[in-house]
Amino acid sequence: MNIQHNISLSTLTTMRLGGEAAQLVEIHSPDEARQAVLYAQQHGLAWYVLGGGSNTLVHDDGFAGLIILNKIPGFEVIEKSAASASIRVGGGESWDAVVQRTVEMNLSGIECLSAIPGTAGAAPVQNIGAYGQEVSTVITQVDAYDAKNDAFVQLSNADCEFSYRHSIFRGRETGRYIITAVTMKLSTLPPEPPFYKAIENYLGEHAIAAPTVQQLRDVVIAIRANKLPDPRTTPNTGSFFKNAIVPRETYERILASYPDMPHYDMLGGSVKIPTGWLIEQAGLKGTLHRGMRVHTKNSLVLINESAKSYDDLASARQKIIDTVHRKFGIAIQQEPLEINS
Ligand code: EPU
Repeated sequence: MNIQHNISLSTLTTMRLGGEAAQLVEIHSPDEARQAVLYAQQHGLAWYVLGGGSNTLVHDDGFAGLIILNKIPGFEVIEKSAASASIRVGGGESWDAVVQRTVEMNLSGIECLSAIPGTAGAAPVQNIGAYGQEVSTVITQVDAYDAKNDAFVQLSNADCEFSYRHSIFRGRETGRYIITAVTMKLSTLPPEPPFYKAIENYLGEHAIAAPTVQQLRDVVIAIRANKLPDPRTTPNTGSFFKNAIVPRETYERILASYPDMPHYDMLGGSVKIPTGWLIEQAGLKGTLHRGMRVHTKNSLVLINESAKSYDDLASARQKIIDTVHRKFGIAIQQEPLEINS
């Protein structure tokens, strides 16, 4: 194992903030995942798995433990029938490269999750979703190293307890598993309408009647390029807040003053309100606070323009949370994860 010391985490995370990791190791196989955890345990170090760093924030004092960089490769078709194909991918693969390959195979199920930064192993952690698709609907199995029991395990979809931007991996089992592979069952059938509204609008404007999976990927890439800043050039972590899921009474109270408020009905009667809309209505779109910019094209995104520290980000975040709370009585929640020292 090649352990590196005093590594800047701001260069490994797309918000480009925060201090150093005391130690860091890259893993390329499930066995190396186990070796890394055993090394951390033997040396009394906390450990944290990082993929692409596109959904993780780092504090100014960095991380006193071992960062485990997941680089586990793999892309295999493990089952194929007339209607579907099951693909198993390594946790360290680039998510978008995986999407591209499945689209080239004309498989449907994750084409609308195109251009999401990060790794395949991170996809189940926050149950990535966009433009009408959510990865939890296609995942059939997650392979992981279970640090609690020193065992390699296979988790079923139900074991992962997926919900909106959530799973056991960032919930009650935080810090237990290293995701080594993800298996997804994709469809060989052509994509079926109705599509997400923004996609339907784009298809209409471009006179595309029955889109192929490749066309849907291209449309999503075009829409995202317009609304979401590229983390390779503009420091950000995509949506900085989760959309707000509120009781129907809260939704109705706000609706009385804002009859055009966008919203989605959820199973069980609660209502999802886009937090980007709440932030925009609270007058914060495009504003700059301590170097953090509320994106002019999408208020859900915070861009690190010139913040000097995690404290700057925390101050901007608090200002947004408080302003939205004062105006709407809704406590909005951060979406990215944090490495805690
Ligand atoms: N809206 C505003 N003002 C804004 C931003 C949005 O009024 O500044 C309104 C839009 O007009 C629209 C609604 O809010 O009516 C929803 O906006 P959009 O479709 O752009 O999606 P979102 O709710 O802002 C979510 C995901 C994105 C995903 C898009 C597309 C979350 C936290 N975010 O954003 O995911 O790409 O839907 O499906 O659920 C991410 O998680 O990092 C991410 C980018």
